Amino acid sequence: MTKYIAIASGKGGVGKTTTSINLALALTNFGRDVILVDGNIHTPHIGIHLGSPLVPCSFHDVLAGDKKITEAIYLHPSGLRLIPGSIKLIEGINYEDIKKHIHSLNGHAEVVIIDCPPGFTDSLPILESSDETLLVVAPEISSVTDAIKTKVKAEELHSTVIGAIIVGSRKKDYEMSKESISSLLETPILSSIPFDEAVKKAQHLHHPVVYHAPFSASSTAYKELAGLLIGQGYDTNLKYKPS
Ligand SMILES: Nc1ncnc2c1ncn2[C@@H]1O[C@H](COP(=O)(O)OP(=O)(O)OP(=O)(O)O)[C@@H](O)[C@H]1O
Ligand SMILES: [Mg+2]
Repeated sequence: MTKYIAIASGKGGVGKTTTSINLALALTNFGRDVILVDGNIHTPHIGIHLGSPLVPCSFHDVLAGDKKITEAIYLHPSGLRLIPGSIKLIEGINYEDIKKHIHSLNGHAEVVIIDCPPGFTDSLPILESSDETLLVVAPEISSVTDAIKTKVKAEELHSTVIGAIIVGSRKKDYEMSKESISSLLETPILSSIPFDEAVKKAQHLHHPVVYHAPFSASSTAYKELAGLLIGQGYDTNLKYKPS
């Protein structure tokens, strides 16, 4: 059975795409059969992050009714399977059929990770297509209050909110604490992905940070998160690390 997980937020720019890519690759590296879908229809960024902004068949071509979704699956050199959007303006997108197209991936993967757009309005078809929702927040009040609305909408659409992750923490006193974020969102905090220069370097090279710098702080946190989601531990005290 294929499980669909939406990576959602309220506020934009909090790390959804970075999380979608790296969580999908970390799960792949744990041996799970994963497909990553760019569900950010208006401003798709997965192709930009991974160096394939224009592909012969994108998720937009599928939504325009020209292609089957299985024709839009690509393999990134990191081992990640993905369905990117197109940065071109493609007319004739049928938003009502998003769920139908995404669910055509049934049986083609164990886990489908879907990167949401910012805000809950544009995310509705993705939340509706997902069994579970993982909220992404920055450790600041505007991000958390906006995420509350997305959480309410996900629950209305019967997508189970499995928890939230904090992305980009610099461990400063002025940041919201894990406890306050969890209490406002009324959901557990599954991970805190630290602010990490390695994310920026990896993005510059069009690679997931889990691939480019697997022992960086952010990669370790993404691998721990993936391990948690599949009920498998990740040992951060590995004796062997490449020099
Ligand atoms: N852990 C991190 N450390 C440092 N920079 C990060 C980290 N995570 C994400 N970023 C940076 O933050 C910026 C926004 O990240 P990302 O594109 O993943 O956010 P988003 O929520 O998907 O944005 P949008 O709402 O526009 O789709 C990017 O420049 C990315 O490189
Ligand atoms: Mg994004």
